[in-house]
Amino acid sequence: MKLEVIHHKHDVIVVGAGIAGLYAALKTSGEVDTAVLSKIYPTRSHSGAAQGGCAASLGNMMEDHWEWHLYDTVRGSDFLGDQDAQELLVRDAAPVIYEMEHLGVPFDRTPAGRIAQRPFGGHFGNFGKSEMMRSCYAADRSGHAQLHCLYEQCLKNEVRFYDEFFAVSLVMKDGSCRGVVAWDIRNGGLHVFHAKAVMIASGGYARCWKITSNAMANTGDGLALVMRQNLPLEDMEFVQFHPTGLWREGILVSEAARGEGGYLVNDKGERFMERYAKAKMELAPRDVVSRAEQSEINEGRGIGGQDAIHLDLRHLGREKILHLLPQVRELALKFIGRDMITEPIPIQPTAHYSMGGIPTDLDTRVLSGTGKESVPGLYASGECACVSVHGANRLGTNSTLECAVFGRRGGLKMLDFVRGLERHGELPEDAAGPARAQIEGLLATAGRKGVRPVELRETMQKSMTDNVAVYRTAEGLQKQVAICAELRAKFREVSLDDGGAYANTELIEALELGHMLDYAYVIARCALGRTECRGAHWRTDHPGRNDQEWLKHTLAWLEGDAIRIDYKPVVITRHQPEERKY
Ligand code: FUM
Repeated sequence: MKLEVIHHKHDVIVVGAGIAGLYAALKTSGEVDTAVLSKIYPTRSHSGAAQGGCAASLGNMMEDHWEWHLYDTVRGSDFLGDQDAQELLVRDAAPVIYEMEHLGVPFDRTPAGRIAQRPFGGHFGNFGKSEMMRSCYAADRSGHAQLHCLYEQCLKNEVRFYDEFFAVSLVMKDGSCRGVVAWDIRNGGLHVFHAKAVMIASGGYARCWKITSNAMANTGDGLALVMRQNLPLEDMEFVQFHPTGLWREGILVSEAARGEGGYLVNDKGERFMERYAKAKMELAPRDVVSRAEQSEINEGRGIGGQDAIHLDLRHLGREKILHLLPQVRELALKFIGRDMITEPIPIQPTAHYSMGGIPTDLDTRVLSGTGKESVPGLYASGECACVSVHGANRLGTNSTLECAVFGRRGGLKMLDFVRGLERHGELPEDAAGPARAQIEGLLATAGRKGVRPVELRETMQKSMTDNVAVYRTAEGLQKQVAICAELRAKFREVSLDDGGAYANTELIEALELGHMLDYAYVIARCALGRTECRGAHWRTDHPGRNDQEWLKHTLAWLEGDAIRIDYKPVVITRHQPEERKY
């Protein structure tokens, strides 16, 4: 089959329609011609699954300051975050929250009519000394509220949406990004989107694990597109395990449940956090809580001897649960048949959030190496990016904040860039060539004997859950590097059942699998390389944080079957590394 190619031209193309992508599009639209490509319907983006809120030191419930928020974020990141980016994040938090409020995000309110705020893990007052309520929320549907509001605003601004378009490759010429090639999932067909600026905002990528809170769509497509241009990824070893995924399902049970007062309990009925974080208990940062749960499970105190812990919310009472946590109650009821009003629910650590990603500078420009050089015309923001505000471990509710702050900022920076360009840069000859070869090649396998994508995907997901987990060892990581290398080799022999262009979901699964295998390989290799414990990366064979050797960011290039690693320094401004105790 020879595929037709359709051409489009816009000033700005955003790939991804979560909070980061939509905020960027909102800022460029109205002024320049802006389009958003999304492989799913925009309001189904995974930002909609962010439950607990968005952090900002508004001080509506108690005294708060951005300096306190900064300190918590730096310490939470186990000192690997870049402090210039972290400062920008926390200082912009309040203005961005108020801007979203004025755009129409329906935050919960205090009796006095101010934006209500709730406690969340790792956020404290007075440089870690007191309690804090910093998360601005809309019940437990906070991301959903932000996503829908931004989508409506983009529609109002006449952003052009290409729904169910799957980005297959970047268009590069002379080292600059000139556009994107995408596949029309519904109708089939290749489309070249010619642009002055492209932003990758394709979201998280924990779908390469079996137990994950991530949506099916979170397959790291943007990362793979960037890597395939011989550009690096940063800090890929740092993946956060959220302490409360529904047992065996992985689906998120918001940290808001613990913020509102929920307990974690082992099989003996003990609130075991006392042994791991006596002062902060269930509200210690996620890396600390997930390790505590995993230790209880490993030492045989999981519920009924299984890999589960109980989250007990019964003491909060029916009214509070229905008012503040209605969605998580419904999820637990529907997926595991347990009602948190009357019984504890089984949970376990679940692969949730990726601190690493596409390296960018503070203005969301994609960086090409260990220095400050960026790729003209190429931007990234949100979870797929690594401006390094989260370092080795992210604090809850700093994620939707990052998406909003850096999505918005990226939009404004792209606008400046695009305004300075009189015309679009030239496209390379046959801009769609690589994408066409890839898709025609896959479609041509239809009906052949050979391995099907699903077999490889299941092996990858199970082995990542087994070997790249809360606790890691050289043995497990070496095994995983080898498994990923083997799966990547087998992927070259993959064949499909469906060779049609129209609504070919098997084709999309194969493309996604190719992306996941590439970055899963990089994650395992980077985790093997970092021989220390820091934040969410915990090596039982290399105890302790090692600032002497490892206070640095990892950069990884995928070069054929090899991975090249280099490092760059961490930006430290106000807070020198110190012991991290909760
Ligand atoms: O627990 C949660 O509600 C998740 C929030 C986050 O990941 O920031």
